[in-house]
Amino acid sequence: MTDAEIKKGLAGVTVDYTAVSKVNPETNSLLYRGYPVQELAATQPFEAVAYLLWHGELPTDAELAEFRAEERAQRALDENVKQAIDLVPLDAHPMDVLRTAVSLAGASDPAAFDNSRESDLGKAKRLFAKIPAMVAYDQRRRRGQAIVEPRDDLDYAQNFLWMTFGEVPDEIVGDAFNVSMILYAEHSFNASTFTARVITSTMADLYSAVVGAIGALKGPLHGGANEAVMHIFDDIGEASNVGPWLDRALAEKRKIMGFGHRVYKNGDSRVPTMKAALDTLIAHYDAQELGALYDALEAEFVARKRIYPNLDYPSGPAYHLMGFDTLTFTPLFVAARVTGWTAHTMEQAASNALIRPLSAYNGVDERHIEGYVADPAVDTTDRPAEAEG
Ligand code: COA
Repeated sequence: MTDAEIKKGLAGVTVDYTAVSKVNPETNSLLYRGYPVQELAATQPFEAVAYLLWHGELPTDAELAEFRAEERAQRALDENVKQAIDLVPLDAHPMDVLRTAVSLAGASDPAAFDNSRESDLGKAKRLFAKIPAMVAYDQRRRRGQAIVEPRDDLDYAQNFLWMTFGEVPDEIVGDAFNVSMILYAEHSFNASTFTARVITSTMADLYSAVVGAIGALKGPLHGGANEAVMHIFDDIGEASNVGPWLDRALAEKRKIMGFGHRVYKNGDSRVPTMKAALDTLIAHYDAQELGALYDALEAEFVARKRIYPNLDYPSGPAYHLMGFDTLTFTPLFVAARVTGWTAHTMEQAASNALIRPLSAYNGVDERHIEGYVADPAVDTTDRPAEAEG
């Protein structure tokens, strides 16, 4: 086996079909079930996009109303999940909190082991409805604030912000949040979605797949980048510091978070839509300094490296302006991406093949324990086929 035959990071490897979304780096487009994501973001509530990802079609008015009623009825945090969140130390990362809370919610579902499509759809809807309460509650407890119960007269985006901040958001803010959820919802075989599909391929339950995906999303090369963008902004301070800061960062060979993408090499198709939403927030919150820093870093980095922003670059500062703690940004990504993950787990289950690639061994040659004498009663010459492990 040669180095060229090893597909490190599975780069460029196509492992399966998917009908959930199409990422096309050549035309810089992203389609969910055939619809350009920009059109969905401009016209749909997030609930309708979740429905689209799971069912393949946008809901009719009646279907949307039915799904919304179901979602609203399941929003409240279960007492045992609230207690589990309270047990997680306040200095643990909110992604650890969410991983724990989702795991417990799954373990408490008597249908967890029913892997039928109907049951999995129910689980997907349950997580969709409950994750916002987990995220909101965790941010509030970190701030020493009491829980805010969900309101069933508000849509998904408004209610999420209501539970987090205890105020019904201005329409502009609710709309920007809705756009961010839609843009984050799905992106084909990214690392966390692939993790979810690997877990599903073993016929483990949907909750296990989502918990694994949360772990994969936590890393700064994936979902964690939206948080890292705000740390970079804090570090730079103001637009006039960008040049010297970048000199240092590049000399130290640091990755600039929020830039670059494994698939898009000429810009991320989601960025213009999220940047437009960020611009409305910058105007709404009178945050021109943040806008100037954003533009300066982008212009300078693109000029030097020709590496373009990804979705995490505009979404980090947008969530910051809405009032979310930086540590809460990646959990917001989970709230959105759980729709894509679960659409993929259902697709994987429907035409399953265990995902089990090969590896090329490059460790030490075979060797033996000194003094070991094989038991003649144990015949090792006729071994059964290697079990999966
Ligand atoms: N900052 C600085 N240099 C970067 C970079 C970044 N954000 N992204 C890529 N590069 C450079 C690499 O250092 C590498 O340079 P080299 O060839 O001189 O070694 C080259 O561009 C190729 O990068 P590579 O990491 O091999 O590309 P990839 O396709 O494996 O990586 C990412 C894609 C997303 C992992 C990478 O761009 C990255 O780490 N970005 C920052 C994290 C981030 O924003 N993640 C969210 C993704 S949606």
